Amino acid sequence: MKALVLGSGAREHALAKKIGESSRCERVFCHPGNAGLFRDRIEKANLPRAAGAVEVARFCQENAIELAVVGPETLLGQGYADELRRAGVRVVGPNSSAARLETSKLFAKEFMGEFGIPTAPHMVVHSWEELTGFTLSRFPLVLKYDGLAAGKGVVIASSAADIVAFAQRVFKDAEFGKPPHTILIEDFVDGTEISYIGLCDGECFVALESATDYKRIFDDGEGPNTGGMGAVSPSPFLTSDLKAVIEETIVAPIVRGLKTRKLAYNGALFIGLMISRGRPLVLEFNVRFGDPETQAILMRLESDLVDLLWATADGKLSALPPPLWSKDMSVYVVATAEGYPGKPTGGDTIQGLESTLHSSQLFSAGIDKLGDSWVTGGGRILGVGAKAATVASAREIAYKSLSNIGWRGMHFRTDIGKGI
Ligand code: GLY
Repeated sequence: MKALVLGSGAREHALAKKIGESSRCERVFCHPGNAGLFRDRIEKANLPRAAGAVEVARFCQENAIELAVVGPETLLGQGYADELRRAGVRVVGPNSSAARLETSKLFAKEFMGEFGIPTAPHMVVHSWEELTGFTLSRFPLVLKYDGLAAGKGVVIASSAADIVAFAQRVFKDAEFGKPPHTILIEDFVDGTEISYIGLCDGECFVALESATDYKRIFDDGEGPNTGGMGAVSPSPFLTSDLKAVIEETIVAPIVRGLKTRKLAYNGALFIGLMISRGRPLVLEFNVRFGDPETQAILMRLESDLVDLLWATADGKLSALPPPLWSKDMSVYVVATAEGYPGKPTGGDTIQGLESTLHSSQLFSAGIDKLGDSWVTGGGRILGVGAKAATVASAREIAYKSLSNIGWRGMHFRTDIGKGI
């Protein structure tokens, strides 16, 4: 079996590596990938970097690709999964119509409202006047731009000035593009976040092991939000009672909703949950695997990932036994370029990578090659993970590996998994 993973981050590295470990896998390609991930059996697909969906579909046909995994939400929103399916490829990733669960926050809210899925109440505004005129005595509030915004479209507003600042970005600076603009104003919900990720084939949702993501840039949850600075799996906050409540009050209505709305869904579904006073609420849906959660979760997967992905794409998840998991805990630490998440710099030489590269749990996200040197590409550069009987031991191994690597301005949190 030959497989293709689309995307360029550490999540795609982890997925392609695990696919390559399957006894069923003959070859695994990644596109566009990044310079640091073409190892672990992963091959570069012979495609231009900006290949469109039709070109990728042709590549799959010419190379007898039987399984394609579409990693990022941008590609899912642009219809890559639709095109690959039309070309007869077995695809993990929903079509663009179902991807609206992530690409439109309003679509997701309406879906949740219709099927009784618990989430924070919201209001919708479309103009500068409506947004800046929005006065409410209670802060904080959550402002969400309705559309993909590379993780920068959600802010927690603590004052009227924060609302004006967000309005400036949307309406005056056009940071998220041209009008029409839709903004959701939501009640702020405090609590503990859990990333509940599963494989869904439209009929059946098979939960993977849980993870907790560390979203803020600095230790102790300080500083701005990022794509994710590290993860621990399983989540220390998910009890079996809570899992049962999530399955009953959230997962079951989602599956019912997908069927009722006739939204074909064959892919990973990431339910971002807030556990508030013991009760799970949905913060957001992501129609893909999480990054960095996937790296931490897959380290613990003992079943064959290809079997799971194949059944997801074919609508046969119910025929599979539940996936097997290592009892070990995993810790995954992300290292970023200077300036991330604002304006990260790139082009800095990465020291110590060559000797650590073959460490089996190093995943490459923003690594470039310049001549014989490895250099940073900006943003999240790489991550190092480990699993062990305790979180403390896994932490020690991961941080020790990371200490061999460095570049100018390298940043990572020092508290991933601390105190668990
Ligand atoms: N770690 C959060 C995400 O993948 O969106």
